[in-house]
Amino acid sequence: MKILGISGSPIQNSNTDRAVQIVLEATGVRKREFIKLSDYTVSPCNACLGCISTNRCIIKDDGIMLAEKACKADALIIGGYTPYSSLDSRTKSFIERLYPLRHRHGMMSGKPGVAIVTCAIPPGRTNMPPSCENGLQAIRNYMMEEGMEYIGGISIVGNVPCVKCGDGGQCQQSGLKMIHGPEATVESVGIKSIEEDPEIVAALQKLGEDIMEKYYGG
Ligand SMILES: Cc1cc2nc3c(=O)[nH]c(=O)nc-3n(C[C@H](O)[C@H](O)[C@H](O)COP(=O)(O)O)c2cc1C
Repeated sequence: MKILGISGSPIQNSNTDRAVQIVLEATGVRKREFIKLSDYTVSPCNACLGCISTNRCIIKDDGIMLAEKACKADALIIGGYTPYSSLDSRTKSFIERLYPLRHRHGMMSGKPGVAIVTCAIPPGRTNMPPSCENGLQAIRNYMMEEGMEYIGGISIVGNVPCVKCGDGGQCQQSGLKMIHGPEATVESVGIKSIEEDPEIVAALQKLGEDIMEKYYGG
């Protein structure tokens, strides 16, 4: 069995990256591969339908190689983050470039799939967009539309970029204050690592185990 884990986060060793890696490791599968999309060039789909008869994209970039990896994988973990409260464009482009696998053969159909999304806006904030839910929905929709077995998804509250930018305390448009209130400071919000939350780690590991149960248990 082969499992492919994708992270759309360009941040080095980000929470998104590590979350995908935790799920991958929890599967215990030897043939597992982690891909960071920012290491590659993947344009969005051109909607040219040039892939219909060949099941192969005509855009000459890394999207072809990544679609081949997805095709050969028995399960797919997709992790993204949520700039402006939608799924990030790298992850979205990757998903669009899996379109060639669809025609006539439904090459992703029946494969277990997992979604992971990081955001900065905690769930339940009625005055802010539901970032994580939007991101999860985009990945889930892809898996549903390709007939994959959606195993589940996890949303993770990661870091507000303003914690790291150096100006987050004073900036007029500070995301820290927007999300956590006018009194929020870089210190009070702090930098979050998923490993500090045993519940998140356990939930990610369970997703890895669930992939295996679905694959072997039916
Ligand atoms: C340009 C940009 C815009 C962002 N906009 C949002 C947003 O609208 N909503 C949100 O929840 N997070 C937003 N974020 C925060 C990211 O989702 C966050 O950095 C991501 O979850 C990665 O976190 P990590 O560093 O913990 O891995 C934005 C980040 C960037 C770089």
